[in-house]
Amino acid sequence: MKKKMSDYRSATRAVRAGQVRSQEAEHSEPIFTTSSFVFDTASQAAARFSMEEDGNIYSRFTNPTVRVFEQRLAALEGAEAAVGTGSGMAAMLATCMAGLKAGDHVVSSKSIFGANQTLLKGLMSNFGVQTTFVSLTNLDEWREAIQANTKMVFFETPTNPLMEIGDIAAISEIAHSANPDIKVVVDNCFCTPILQQPLSLGADVVLHSATKFIDGQGRCVGGAVVGDNDFVGEKVVSFMRTAGPSLSPFNAWVFAKGLETLPVRINQACENAMQLAQALLEARSVKAVYYPGLESHPQYDLAKAQQSKGGAVVAFELDGGKEAAWNMIDNTQLLSITANLGDTRTTITHPYTTTHARWSEEDKAEAGITPNLVRIAVGLEDVRDVIDDLNL
Ligand SMILES: Cc1ncc(COP(=O)(O)O)c(C=O)c1O
Repeated sequence: MKKKMSDYRSATRAVRAGQVRSQEAEHSEPIFTTSSFVFDTASQAAARFSMEEDGNIYSRFTNPTVRVFEQRLAALEGAEAAVGTGSGMAAMLATCMAGLKAGDHVVSSKSIFGANQTLLKGLMSNFGVQTTFVSLTNLDEWREAIQANTKMVFFETPTNPLMEIGDIAAISEIAHSANPDIKVVVDNCFCTPILQQPLSLGADVVLHSATKFIDGQGRCVGGAVVGDNDFVGEKVVSFMRTAGPSLSPFNAWVFAKGLETLPVRINQACENAMQLAQALLEARSVKAVYYPGLESHPQYDLAKAQQSKGGAVVAFELDGGKEAAWNMIDNTQLLSITANLGDTRTTITHPYTTTHARWSEEDKAEAGITPNLVRIAVGLEDVRDVIDDLNL
């Protein structure tokens, strides 16, 4: 019997899903750098434009290379549909524009990527969509925040930089039992589908910044929205067609190729992160380590239940204040001082003065973004060199 792609295991789908060979019988996927496509006849053009006939039209919303990336990612997330976007933030914007209108309400975790918070608090409220922010880990707050007009629930797990875990099944159940039409949207950037599949736990939509682990070598900016045919395949596609924050074929090609090696890369990065976290636990200069792969993490059991590994990001507090953190960062020779993550190169960041610098002192204190906090996104160097570089 002929197997379907969904019959294969995850690493096989990462390598094989989504490819349609052209008449040239190429082994590796080509890049279709064309803005438009030609039709055999005027009536075929009309049928394509009205969507009566499937096929390529114009690369703002149909491109074969982008489609390979979308189908490969959808196969890994166990989804009906995926839509590539020009950045991770464009994926969030497309989801909001496709799913919300003036008068609607969103419940969001407080601990989300800064630009997502600005988008919800600023941009979306300008268009009459209000958001209530709650603690990711306090389920009562989620329950109490849902209103009759709530249309979307949003969180990321694990969070950046403190690696808190959101209970995907529990939050989805709270939202759907209040109203089955609420879209539960999970930013799966830190885990990727290799470590965690939110749709299988009850979420409706998954967002990605492909810029991170999916590319995996810090080259391109892009993103994706993943979910069902009705919301993602129809509503998000329609927004992309109209508004156009599209993914370029070249970047889609980089991401499609990135997915092929993602299982190997992210599993190795997780092993490295675990070794770093253990070394940090033993270091005298370190006060606290935040890594969900450690038994000392307050949500270790939940992390173990919904993720296959702890992830590649480790945060820790040093003895002392900002000086201690900056000293450690400035004394490294190998690590890259940059805020990006998910790269082969290990990166080191001081969240208090970079990624979270625009937050108020109160918000930072409440979220645990302290002056002595350092975040490391572990890459693929020999982790012993990474640990040595920190002079612990
Ligand atoms: C968790 C998370 N979500 C979304 C984004 C936004 O992605 P992009 O930079 O690709 O727009 C980022 C980027 O840093 C992120 O860390």
